[in-house]
Amino acid sequence: MNVLGIETSCDETAAAVVVDGRDIRANVIASQVDLHARFGGVVPEIASRAHLELVNGVIGDALVGAGMTFADLDAVGATHGPGLAGALLVGVSAGKAIALARGIPYVGVNHLEAHLHAAWLQDPDVQLPLAVLLVSGGHTMLVAVTAEAEYRVLGQTVDDAAGEAYDKVARLLDLGYPGGPVIDRLAATGDPGAVRFPRPMRGDGLDFSFSGLKTAVLHQVRRAPEVAVADLAASFQAAVVDVLTDKLAAAADAIDARTLVIGGGVAANSGLRASVAALGERSGRRALIPPPDLCTDNAAMIAATAWRRLRRDGPTPLDDGAMPNLGLPTD
Ligand code: KG4
Ligand code: ZN
Repeated sequence: MNVLGIETSCDETAAAVVVDGRDIRANVIASQVDLHARFGGVVPEIASRAHLELVNGVIGDALVGAGMTFADLDAVGATHGPGLAGALLVGVSAGKAIALARGIPYVGVNHLEAHLHAAWLQDPDVQLPLAVLLVSGGHTMLVAVTAEAEYRVLGQTVDDAAGEAYDKVARLLDLGYPGGPVIDRLAATGDPGAVRFPRPMRGDGLDFSFSGLKTAVLHQVRRAPEVAVADLAASFQAAVVDVLTDKLAAAADAIDARTLVIGGGVAANSGLRASVAALGERSGRRALIPPPDLCTDNAAMIAATAWRRLRRDGPTPLDDGAMPNLGLPTD
């Protein structure tokens, strides 16, 4: 079954063709990062307009890449939430239009569930239960996956998301947007022991807090402006990675997980990837770490999730709209 996936929830316009939920034939991403960089964050109205301009070309590129035409598609899935309302509407409308024109099913896809599904894209026979650390610009949560569509949120951030903390710290260090990749690169050249930043809520349940850490970096910069930026980056990253890894370990213990999974943009972080791989070895659990391009926003995960949801629940009615505040389905 050939499924076209469309992703327009934030600042990436993406389309992919995935066969039977696992075989990625094309995975195209047009990033809008350059359009938003000078504003230091995603500007919703600019994002919607850019999606509108890019979406048809990206879908066309995905079809060409897969060696297919619209006539070869058996279903189309589009992210319908959570995300920016105007941005989501572009992908949802494109998906429905294709479904209507071709007489094929449309599936509205939950973006958070799709990040979890990167695990199945990587390994269709992944061993449950999974302890998943989902860390992006908008979300930081620990999720127990006990069966294919059975999720339990074990903990989440009480303030900023991990990616948001990266972006805000990069901003106060004048490193540009998005902050994650820049800090990650700089951290590799710095000393993670240079500054001892706090490990917020470490050893205190499965929720997270990052806004205090961001403030600690600000105070440190004011107090000792002479500390090298690379050392600050490495020290900040060490604090974030310590907390994320500790809490993933605690979550895995709590549910006796067979497999550890990371997903979301921050899962592209080299420090986190190394630390979770080490946790896997230490705990005797398999660490499933998808390649960075399946961790950050992409449409392959949308197409794969659409395929599974279509088998389970059938098509989404065409009068269903975008749902900006959608949560993970936990019923
Ligand atoms: O999942 P994603 O692509 O979009 C959202 O759904 O939010 O995540 C984007 C976030 C941004 O905050 C970005 O700074 C962060 O992921 N990010 C990283 C890295 N690459 C992207 N954070 C840390 N290290 C990275 N290498
Ligand atoms: Zn995402």
